[in-house]
Amino acid sequence: MSGLTVRAAAKINLHLGVGRVREDGFHPLATLYQAVGIYDDVTVTDAPRWDLDVRCHERIDGSEVPRGTDNVAVRAGRMLTEHHGVRRAAAIRIEKQIPVAAGLAGGSADAAATLLALDRLWQLETSDEDLLALAARLGSDVPFALVGGSATGHGRGEVVERVEDNGTWWWVAVESDIGLSTPAVYAELDRAGGGDPAPEVPEPLLAALRSGDADALAAAVGNDLAAPALQLRPDLREVLDAGVAAGALTGLLSGSGPTCLFLCRDGDHAIDVRRRLTEAGHERVQATTGPVAGAHEVSY
Ligand code: C5P
Repeated sequence: MSGLTVRAAAKINLHLGVGRVREDGFHPLATLYQAVGIYDDVTVTDAPRWDLDVRCHERIDGSEVPRGTDNVAVRAGRMLTEHHGVRRAAAIRIEKQIPVAAGLAGGSADAAATLLALDRLWQLETSDEDLLALAARLGSDVPFALVGGSATGHGRGEVVERVEDNGTWWWVAVESDIGLSTPAVYAELDRAGGGDPAPEVPEPLLAALRSGDADALAAAVGNDLAAPALQLRPDLREVLDAGVAAGALTGLLSGSGPTCLFLCRDGDHAIDVRRRLTEAGHERVQATTGPVAGAHEVSY
């Protein structure tokens, strides 16, 4: 199929500070996003009506991906045409490497990639400011998927600001074969009376990113959604323990889970931790790095 392809990365949260639920049902966040090298590719072509084709990597269960016009990628396309007052439609093909309902913002990556791809295909020349505003309406993590790198996220996550990051961080990600619903994890946090009254991105975390020191980063990461996610999925505790037993510097839940992340010192260390986890019987284990770029065209 000819067309224009945009690649968008998965995100992880090196810190996820969650405040008390707001009146609109969202939670105020103080988070540190990092884009990592697990990608979805979105290819768009002109079409008489909106159409969606989702192809998943063999390790991914795609049964939960909304099909047709419920998919956030189609909503992104429609929103862009409404913004410009144009009557156009596209066929959208998503090639998924980012697992679904994994805490890696795969749907947000698809939405961001679709916005950018259609803007380029139709030469709409949407300003960065407008693209970010449309992205924010589509989902809390969509603006970051456009921006990439390492960035703080405030508001409900949609207010994104790049930060200095001089590291090449190596992560081992252990995906789960069952997804976890983000709203369910937030609801569990509320049920337990959780929520930090004044969440902030910790200064030692920002300093660790500037320094590139993996031990300093390991000491500074944290996730307020870990406790509620583990309440819903106690089996993840075993995965987190296994990664540390395999020699990782620290283990961390990605976003609302269930993907578990393990920080490693360098590439060789990551390959070793991945091998040990695989030998211990864990599946869907991969080594990846961050930060990587935000959504970008890869057509050729
Ligand atoms: O913005 P997004 O569509 O990704 O959010 C999905 C769900 O996650 C929301 O409906 C809400 O239940 C929860 N959420 C939240 N606070 C945030 C972000 C998401 O409660 N800051």
